[in-house]
Amino acid sequence: MDNRETIQREQSKGTAPTSTVGRGKSFTIEGAPTESRWTDEAVALYLGDSLDYYAEWDRPTVIVSDGAYGVLGFEGDTSDHLGIPEWYDKHAEAWSRYSTPQTTLWFWNSEIGWAAAHPVLEKHGWRYVNANIWNKGKAHVAGNVNTSKIRRFPVVSEVCVQYVLDAKIDGLPLKQWLLKEWKRTGLPVRAANTACGVADAAVRKYLDQGHLWYYPPPEMFGKLVAYANDHGGAEGRPYFSADGKSSMTADDWSRMRSKFFCPHGWMNVWDRAPLKGAERIKVPAQESKAAHLNQKPLDLMRLIIEASSERGDAVWEPFGGLFSASLAAKNLGRRAFGAERDPSYFQLAISERFSGNGRLFT
Ligand SMILES: C[S@@+](CC[C@H](N)C(=O)[O-])C[C@H]1O[C@@H](n2cnc3c(N)ncnc32)[C@H](O)[C@@H]1O
Repeated sequence: MDNRETIQREQSKGTAPTSTVGRGKSFTIEGAPTESRWTDEAVALYLGDSLDYYAEWDRPTVIVSDGAYGVLGFEGDTSDHLGIPEWYDKHAEAWSRYSTPQTTLWFWNSEIGWAAAHPVLEKHGWRYVNANIWNKGKAHVAGNVNTSKIRRFPVVSEVCVQYVLDAKIDGLPLKQWLLKEWKRTGLPVRAANTACGVADAAVRKYLDQGHLWYYPPPEMFGKLVAYANDHGGAEGRPYFSADGKSSMTADDWSRMRSKFFCPHGWMNVWDRAPLKGAERIKVPAQESKAAHLNQKPLDLMRLIIEASSERGDAVWEPFGGLFSASLAAKNLGRRAFGAERDPSYFQLAISERFSGNGRLFT
């Protein structure tokens, strides 16, 4: 159910915050179409609720979520973090339904918004990997904060949290499935070291069932499979098969986890000033006023997309705003699928950022 409807329902019971009208909306384009879709060779951007479009989009390698923060940042945002779990519930469920083990979810939010959303993400199978902090620096609050009044440290950060979907085969997490398959061969566990040509790493890492478990690199997986099929009991073959007909190849195995290419020199704190200047899209005919309160820097979008996908991969941006992730994805040779339900933001994003050979269907 749409959060606004829920809130209206709860308001009549006296249990909900009073408004979800965004405080940040600075303009409206009169006559902007209420239904449309923009496509070119790299992007497919939809006007409307992303929940209505997920089923049409190609399976994502990356999802960039920049939705409700609980700060009334746009119409439909909640007024505090209490509404956040319900707001994300259906999206988190759909993301896991359409994702693959190769998918990374980048979840942008305030720290309390993320804390509130985390149980919902976990409930739908998203496994926490890392929290990255966007440090906007002192300039973000300089001169605007009365520290004796706010009674806390001024906030100059957002988080961008990395989640993945844990793959399962035969209903088992990979580490359990690897050991189960090895045991099925009837070979002693230590024979896995011989299979991989290592002293003890295979037993210590690839077949470990605790926190020392280590995903076997595809080449090592290939060696385990070959050894199991050559030396394991004939009646149990093929070993390490997902379909019961043939063994998985090293290539199949490489697709069982998310992509990640750590860029040199980047840590989990990103010092980057708030977005200003030419990149910040302005209200039409008012060159001083920012059009969208939440427009993200292209370089940070580029950073996360480049780290978690390859050329040609699909990137989803379910809460488009001015579609910064989609533009970064297009510039990196990825394919983008996005949605924005506010017609004015949608129209402005298309005209300011996606001109060229595309087509607008209305
Ligand atoms: C935080 S902003 C995203 C800003 C964006 N990252 C950028 O750089 O411009 C969230 C946007 O999502 C839109 N939105 C919220 N719920 C939506 C939904 N279910 N489907 C599509 N758009 C939605 C809002 O109208 C708002 O513009």
